Amino acid sequence: HQLYHYKEVASTQDIAHQLAKQGKPHGTVVIADEQVKGKGRMSRPWHSPKGKGIWMSILLRPDLVPVQAPQLTLLAATVLAEVFIQKSELKPQIKWPNDILINHKKVSGILTEMQAEHDQIQYVVLGIGINVNQAADDIQGDLRHKASSLRIESEEEWSIAETIQCILHQFEKTYDQFMSQGFKKVKNVWEKYGYKIGEQVTIKTMKREWQAELIGIEPDGALKARDQKGNEEKLYSAEIMWG
Ligand code: BTN
Repeated sequence: HQLYHYKEVASTQDIAHQLAKQGKPHGTVVIADEQVKGKGRMSRPWHSPKGKGIWMSILLRPDLVPVQAPQLTLLAATVLAEVFIQKSELKPQIKWPNDILINHKKVSGILTEMQAEHDQIQYVVLGIGINVNQAADDIQGDLRHKASSLRIESEEEWSIAETIQCILHQFEKTYDQFMSQGFKKVKNVWEKYGYKIGEQVTIKTMKREWQAELIGIEPDGALKARDQKGNEEKLYSAEIMWG
């Protein structure tokens, strides 16, 4: 890997996009100790305090069509779940599409940004944010009920450098397997950790909000759900609500 390490950046995503435009290769990694303008999904901010977490973006140049990009996000979520299990007794769950929860609280999120042209992926920037060593007091206000860190949940300090190494190693292995054998294995692993699969949840999209049972993921990475009338639906963009 070409690895770029910064003390402070606005967002590792922005840097990875710049590096992509300069032609940097597949597998380039950008890491920062602190982000002052960390980005979450749906234009939310992502708190990235100094030295407390893993704030990392990976540049990928996959040989995939744009509709397959969500599969990479699901893949990344399985990588994180497997690493957390290797390193601790924690029981991570993946809330579709890619929040990692421990004891029902979010410790990690993934932001995938794709540049595509003529129905071809130019590159993908996969952003991984993990709350690692925050103490309970470091988690502010509203977030208290829904966010946590590996340290809070495991009652241990984690080595950031070592955890990054494990993630990159596991990512490479899983990515190569995905490229050579397809999405099936990722789908199976994802479903093993899937949060509320087989349960009733509230689903929210831009247009509506409704109750449904989560069934699993489709071969293309969409979420499969069944509404109360028994209709099955495939969702590409939606939010699973809490509780
Ligand atoms: C989410 O759950 O909303 C996604 C959060 C993604 C955060 C990571 S931290 C590294 C990378 N740089 C960013 O600005 N965001 C992603």
